[in-house]
Amino acid sequence: MTRANLDVLIPWPDLAVRHGSWPDGLGVHVWDAVTPDSEPDQEVLDRIGLWVMPYGVGGAERLLERLPALRAVQSLSAGVESLEPLLPAGVRLCNGRGLHDASTAELALGLILAAQRELPHWAAEQAAGRWAPHRTRSLADSRVAVIGYGSIGSALATRLRACEAEVVPVASRARPDEGVYAVSDLTALLPDIDVAVLVLPENAATVGLFGAKQLAALPDDALVVNVGRGRTLDTDALLAEVATGRLRAALDVTDPEPLPAGHPLYTAPGVFITPHVGGGSAAFRPRAERLIVAQVRRWAAGEELLNPFPRG
Ligand SMILES: NC(=O)c1ccc[n+]([C@@H]2O[C@H](COP(=O)([O-])OP(=O)(O)OC[C@H]3O[C@@H](n4cnc5c(N)ncnc54)[C@H](OP(=O)(O)O)[C@@H]3O)[C@@H](O)[C@H]2O)c1
Repeated sequence: MTRANLDVLIPWPDLAVRHGSWPDGLGVHVWDAVTPDSEPDQEVLDRIGLWVMPYGVGGAERLLERLPALRAVQSLSAGVESLEPLLPAGVRLCNGRGLHDASTAELALGLILAAQRELPHWAAEQAAGRWAPHRTRSLADSRVAVIGYGSIGSALATRLRACEAEVVPVASRARPDEGVYAVSDLTALLPDIDVAVLVLPENAATVGLFGAKQLAALPDDALVVNVGRGRTLDTDALLAEVATGRLRAALDVTDPEPLPAGHPLYTAPGVFITPHVGGGSAAFRPRAERLIVAQVRRWAAGEELLNPFPRG
């Protein structure tokens, strides 16, 4: 079969109602991976060329072995490190780059503000019925390293600048015209940083990238934030720094994940944790729908798909 007569499988119904009809002649099928016994018949699966995977549903990958004509997979996640090795040879992978920018950037901003302005402390004071004000740190005038200055990192930078913070962007390579530093300069930059935000994908080069040496290079009282992937930050090294009260942390992603009950990070001083909810907000669905519709139309027209991973 050629791509032109292969169907597509998407996770949600009604997209055509909201976004205009599907291209003539294209077979569009729906599987949400959640509704019991809802898997399409094998006769349908035999014709699927493009699969848009359900988002955040564990075990959906099981369908891969039942899709013999599969040419391309669209993940709605930005981080695809666990999916990539499962794909059969020759199947193109596209990721959800861009879908989570607003949602994850606003959570990162929220974590930073919560830590700088001591919102967890004030919530505990409210619960105790106490009114005992003091001055706090601020985000304004802070120097914030955004380590991983890609789609989410640059969305975060826009929000940080609106809060009058100074942004120090860091990526794998320097981009002098954008003021972006190379990761090879990271340790030298850290002594002047008040807030270090990790927005990195997980790959061979990023696992453990922010370890004891980088943490030690930060000044006393600096805040470490992670909204990328847990394994990019060395948990033991972070625990050692926060235990003394020298550094603080706000983490949406952890290593391990889920963080098991009783893990020392839960009770470490100066650590604020959210359970990997950066991308999980109302901002996701409309952006995801727009990407799915664009990809399906490109598929039907025989055009290059958006968001190839790895990026070319
Ligand atoms: N908390 C959540 O719920 C949540 C939600 C969505 C995504 N995420 C995570 O966030 C990650 C980033 O997403 P994105 O869409 O912003 O990805 P992206 O656009 O691909 O950006 C990734 C950035 O990381 C940089 N980078 C990659 N390897 C590096 C290395 N070895 N050293 C230094 N920098 C490196 C890249 O550098 P270059 O610019 O030089 O290529 C790029 O700036 C995802 O992979 C995912 O794991 C988390």
